[in-house]
Amino acid sequence: MSRSGIMVGLSPTFRQTSFPSMGLKGFSFRFKHWACNGYTRMVTSASCSDQLQLQLQDKQLSSPELVALEYADLNLPLPDKELGNVRIRQHVNPLKTTFSVPVQVPHWNQVFRDPTLPLMVDIGSGSGRFLMWLGKKNAGVRNYLGLEIREKLVNRAHYWVKEINLDNVHFIYANATNSFKQVVSNYPGPLMLVSILCPDPHFKKRHHKRRVVQKPLVDSIAASLMDGGEVLIQSDVYEVAVDMRFQFDGESNTLKHIDEVDSSVLCDSEGWLLKNPMGIRTEREIHAEFEGAKIYRRMYKKCFYQHEAISSSSI
Ligand SMILES: C[S@@+](CC[C@H](N)C(=O)[O-])C[C@H]1O[C@@H](n2cnc3c(N)ncnc32)[C@H](O)[C@@H]1O
Repeated sequence: MSRSGIMVGLSPTFRQTSFPSMGLKGFSFRFKHWACNGYTRMVTSASCSDQLQLQLQDKQLSSPELVALEYADLNLPLPDKELGNVRIRQHVNPLKTTFSVPVQVPHWNQVFRDPTLPLMVDIGSGSGRFLMWLGKKNAGVRNYLGLEIREKLVNRAHYWVKEINLDNVHFIYANATNSFKQVVSNYPGPLMLVSILCPDPHFKKRHHKRRVVQKPLVDSIAASLMDGGEVLIQSDVYEVAVDMRFQFDGESNTLKHIDEVDSSVLCDSEGWLLKNPMGIRTEREIHAEFEGAKIYRRMYKKCFYQHEAISSSSI
């Protein structure tokens, strides 16, 4: 058992051939994970082509290997050297002049097969694997848009989306803080979910203004969501989670925390969601849980009509 408490059964063949690429082609993995004393313990059940006989044996995995496993079903190909080189600075400064102008809105019918489907927007989508996994699972039902300020990540995500033929997933190289409103206001379908998952923390107080969650963005999200639409926020950094929570709690006229409207959703005593509601973890989430961190999550639902009804009945 490793420090992180992770044990996964894998065949020797799998170990030798699969992890260098992160692509894991030819394998299909189903696995469960659960919190165990603050750590993640994972068990896989693997299925693969007939000629490969899996002899399960315990192996301790690194956190990038866990990411590859979690997203193995995507079968992402290895990009060429230039696209694959996404080594980047720890943080990008969104206040740089280059990022001061909102991006151009795409022609939606050129990026989505059916641009009238309900849309999920992931702000700070990183590698994009999270949205690709959701897009593959919900093909023909929902569209997925990632807003990401690192161009290299967006270019690689575009390559992957094309290679695996996803016509309901798209990424835009943008500063989400000032581009979100313009982008979503032009979308022809309803906005049903916005996620902000493990945003860059910008720890220093003088850098808090670089954080992606700022009041105008929160106002735009609340205004743009369809009735019944949802917002998911999460961070492994408590201070950042509290900051986002404070801002979204401030929209209580339109956004209710999910446990207020759905009694089946459980929270801990401080109001953080007990479970990840997405069915997949983001990359940062996997790395953070590997290190033993807790993920602080909140999910809000837009209840505009309910609010209207309450206001008018109280007049
Ligand atoms: C810590 S990573 C988390 C990525 C992913 N959400 C996850 O949980 O694995 C934060 C991401 O947000 C992006 N980001 C930071 N500020 C942004 C902004 N203003 N607009 C769009 N993306 C931003 C970063 O480039 C980075 O990819």
